[in-house]
Amino acid sequence: MLVSAADELPPAWALLNSNESVFGPSRHAKDAARASVSGIGRYPEGADAALARAIAGFHGLDQDRIVVGQGTDDLLARLFRAYLGQGDQLVRSANGYLKVPNYAHANGGEVVSVEDDELTPSVDGMIAAVTGRTRVVYLANPENPAGTYLPKAEVERLHAALPDDVLLILDCAYAEYAWADDYDPGHDLVTTSANVVLCQTFSKLYGLAGARVGWAYGPKDAVDTVRRIGLTFPMAAPSVAAAMAALEDQAHVAFVRKENRALLERFCGRLTRLGVDCVPSQTNFVLVRMPGAAQSESAVVALAERGIRVRRMNSPAYASFFRVSIGLQNELDATASALECHLMEAK
Ligand SMILES: Cc1ncc(COP(=O)(O)O)c(C=O)c1O
Repeated sequence: MLVSAADELPPAWALLNSNESVFGPSRHAKDAARASVSGIGRYPEGADAALARAIAGFHGLDQDRIVVGQGTDDLLARLFRAYLGQGDQLVRSANGYLKVPNYAHANGGEVVSVEDDELTPSVDGMIAAVTGRTRVVYLANPENPAGTYLPKAEVERLHAALPDDVLLILDCAYAEYAWADDYDPGHDLVTTSANVVLCQTFSKLYGLAGARVGWAYGPKDAVDTVRRIGLTFPMAAPSVAAAMAALEDQAHVAFVRKENRALLERFCGRLTRLGVDCVPSQTNFVLVRMPGAAQSESAVVALAERGIRVRRMNSPAYASFFRVSIGLQNELDATASALECHLMEAK
């Protein structure tokens, strides 16, 4: 019988590989999901509209310009279906969210990948890459897997340079975590533009990854199109109930935001003292830099042997790195200690 490397690893006790919130959702969200189960014999009539209204109310946005979906991924897939046809070009940053090229290819689109500026999307590079065939420019802000971000002024500069018939998609899956003073997800930019769509999610800071809830804010015609090409009943009732309750529990949001930042800074501080570099992050994960690909691979295996799962990316640009999602303090302390032991053993 063949035994794979994964079979030989001990079971994982620290899952720091998928950027979920280690704090989970608000308990009110779980209660609301549980309570809604009594009604699952019926179609969730109007549930998506109710959630869009709640999101609009909370953020002070126009409800008619919001569409909800099963995670940001669902909305991105629908946006690409609507806006990218055979031979059209998508411009994106080369080492950004890896799922996005698939959505373009699925519609016959061509993917133009622009080299990063030291792990940050290059605004100049993206502007230079736009051609007459470009229909969509995609930017994750903050970016995954780098954790870096573009300041508000840079996003506005990118938008100002785009022709009116090019759609700018801002994927702000980690917006709620970002604390930099010059960061802004771009709600005002969407409000005042006819060609910007912004996506946010309940999967990350709200801790509802398993419920699959995301939303997009954009021009009315774009939002109508995305809604029309979605399912008749696009959202499961318990997921909508959970998201609405989660939105109301801003004390939980504030707690998670504060804890996450403190845990990230403490973890990076410890790694820095070990002589290991962390890429500055505005999210709930951090990219750890090793001297080379072999060292990154052996460190990830050493962590896995201690039951700690972190993520290595396929992209050659990230060969020397691995990504650690921000876990609980004991998980991060164990990760740092395991890495310290591994580095000493490897000397
Ligand atoms: C940048 C980015 N966009 C979108 C997603 C998808 O999130 P969702 O769970 O909302 O589909 C992820 C998930 O990791 C992500 O990192």
